[in-house]
Amino acid sequence: MENRRIAEILRSGEPDEFVAVQGWVRTKRELKGFSFLEVNDGSCLASLQVVLNEDLPDYDDILKKLNTGASVEVAGVLVGSLGKGQRIELKTDKIKVFGEADPETYPLQKKRHSFEFLRTIGHLRSRTNSFGAVFRVRNACATAIHQFFQERGFLWVHTPIITANDCEGAGELFSVTSLDLKNVPRTQTQAIDYSKDFFSKPTYLTVSGQLEAEVMAMAFTNVYTFGPTFRAENSNTSRHLAEFWMVEPEMAFCDLKGDMDLAEAFLKHIFKYVLETCQEDMEFFNQRIDNTVLATADNIINNKFERITYTEAVKLLEKADVQFEYPVNWGLDLQSEHERYLCEQLFKKPVIVSNYPAQIKAFYMRLDEDEKTVSAMDILAPKIGEIIGGSQREERLDVLERRIQAQGMKPEDLWWYLDLRRFGTVPHAGFGLGFERLVQFMTGMGNIRDVIPFPRTPESAEF
Ligand code: 4AD
Ligand code: MG
Repeated sequence: MENRRIAEILRSGEPDEFVAVQGWVRTKRELKGFSFLEVNDGSCLASLQVVLNEDLPDYDDILKKLNTGASVEVAGVLVGSLGKGQRIELKTDKIKVFGEADPETYPLQKKRHSFEFLRTIGHLRSRTNSFGAVFRVRNACATAIHQFFQERGFLWVHTPIITANDCEGAGELFSVTSLDLKNVPRTQTQAIDYSKDFFSKPTYLTVSGQLEAEVMAMAFTNVYTFGPTFRAENSNTSRHLAEFWMVEPEMAFCDLKGDMDLAEAFLKHIFKYVLETCQEDMEFFNQRIDNTVLATADNIINNKFERITYTEAVKLLEKADVQFEYPVNWGLDLQSEHERYLCEQLFKKPVIVSNYPAQIKAFYMRLDEDEKTVSAMDILAPKIGEIIGGSQREERLDVLERRIQAQGMKPEDLWWYLDLRRFGTVPHAGFGLGFERLVQFMTGMGNIRDVIPFPRTPESAEF
């Protein structure tokens, strides 16, 4: 008999069909003469109801083994269900227990567990309803991302994890070394002799694949990266991870407006795809996690994002009848309370803020005519804050060299990046989407640690 996935059986299984399923027991209910099991295989939120009759061989012995968490294979016939909540159930002829789960020690019992508790059992939490839904939606977001770019002729390029550059220039780098540094005090790491190191120079885990994506865009016109990135920023917040996934499209022959247009169409596409393919999971989030999730999705898909410049944003914030903790002043970066005021209270939808002061942004962003601002843009999302950061890139060799120097970096370290401006330079632009912030935005999950299977945050790397 063919093994089938539970999602498919619940969707299209018919009475009288013989099926076999494999999965994990969620609950067991013993009644007089028969028992019900809920079996889940991760393919969907719902579990398959399985009926065991007491005339099954070894009924009592088997029942003792069927506790929450046990792994099973169940075969039998599908019958229409009388119970409410399911269309169809499985009447068991044969059941095999692969592995038991001792109810005294198995941490996931039927009650609701807090997310804090579930973080301490990261190896088991994916077996709960909430995390099942999160990781299915995460998968759907990834599929939608590839679909969006592939349909538009973008090439998926694979940029390195180990790099010698600090793309953002923010110094939030994790070092990679083959040297034994156990006995080197932190204060002396500058003096390390890297000639004996694996790469003969200091290297780091990448903070962004952008610079390498620019290399590829200068040959393939439109490309995107989708991979892990790393930042040693010591921000213990619900929006920061030390290891997060980023999606970075890069387009040759594109300016800031084209960049914003693509980013908006991109977010709309992902929301639409997830609503269509993960209906049950999205309804679950709306009911159990955040009752604005479905309305937010609808808002994203159907309304144009607000677009304002940084200078306009500062004026709006200065006029706001809210007491902010941090000052608002032209030249200072926007804090998350400012970002949230703009998209949650003022516009009540995503806001694209553009043309930030040059001195608070990275060296590669294109200097505007006024020489005060750069062609940067951030997309701010309600409840999340910055979800996308992007810009038109500086394509003029002399200006770029000046900007690199002004930020205390050495142009010779980026000789290959400058070569792109020496040979066939073109206006180009791109952005980076924080993938976990997208999944948070989509699901309403409050903490970024709960939308990635194995979160990496300060002092936490269990596996
Ligand atoms: O704004 P960021 O730093 O931009 C870049 O890295 C550019 N090189 C992107 C580009 O233009 N190709 O980061 C991009 C996005 C942010 O908007 C945010 O969503 C996410 O990455 N992000 C983080 N997500 C989780 N944890 C962190 N520590 C993050 N830092 C940034
Ligand atoms: Mg940013």
